[in-house]
Amino acid sequence: MKVGILGTGDVGRTLGKAFVTLGHEVKLGAREATNEKAAAWAQETGPKASHGTFADAAAFGDLIVLSTHGAANDAVIKSIPAERLKGKLLIDTTNPLDFSKGKPPGLFVGHTDSGGEQVQRAAPAARVVKCWNIVGHTAMFRPEYAGGAPDMFICGNDGEAKKEVTQILRDFGWSEVTDLGGIESSRYLEPLCIVWVMYGFITGGWTHAFKLLKK
Ligand SMILES: NC(=O)c1ccc[n+]([C@@H]2O[C@H](COP(=O)([O-])OP(=O)(O)OC[C@H]3O[C@@H](n4cnc5c(N)ncnc54)[C@H](OP(=O)(O)O)[C@@H]3O)[C@@H](O)[C@H]2O)c1
Repeated sequence: MKVGILGTGDVGRTLGKAFVTLGHEVKLGAREATNEKAAAWAQETGPKASHGTFADAAAFGDLIVLSTHGAANDAVIKSIPAERLKGKLLIDTTNPLDFSKGKPPGLFVGHTDSGGEQVQRAAPAARVVKCWNIVGHTAMFRPEYAGGAPDMFICGNDGEAKKEVTQILRDFGWSEVTDLGGIESSRYLEPLCIVWVMYGFITGGWTHAFKLLKK
């Protein structure tokens, strides 16, 4: 599979390397085709890895992963010709974090709207699925915990897209995946990210993940 990753941060580079490890081809996108972080990542990740602009990565990928600064999502999607996203599965890993009032961050949208819904509105022809936003980047691939398999929650409007994401998650080592419904469930998944962040600030650890206990 060809994967276009929008974003050169920890999430984009981690997921990009993971897709390459699983045998896929990945193009990492940034604002500038000459982005140094992306160039270094491609160099160290090998022949299945390349880089370019956000629009280049979107054209390359059959699957698109959005892993940009949440407040930049709209600008990033606007920089991509719409036909490059049409019909494609777009995995939204982002959170609408607001750092203006210090740490921990808040959310700049919530309760009656969400970052996930904004992404789906910005890319109406893409099949957006929220995923991976509730865990740190170090746990996104092959999460291993002494306490058992952590849970991943996803949401999106397209049932087939969510099945595809569930299979990708299984390939990434996530055995516990729950579909929380339409993309509007991002209204609840995005605040859950803040719970994850606050636990990190309070304990000083950043490798935790959520586990749902069932009877
Ligand atoms: N870090 C984690 O462990 C983690 C875990 C779960 C979810 N998330 C979420 O995943 C997303 C990515 O997080 P991250 O830490 O990997 O990276 P990040 O630092 O939040 O974002 C980096 C990317 O955002 C782009 N960007 C920043 N400002 C921009 C602007 N004004 N216009 C266009 N693009 C802009 C950068 O473009 P350039 O490449 O051109 O600089 C870069 O590709 C975030 O929404 C975050 O909340 C993060």
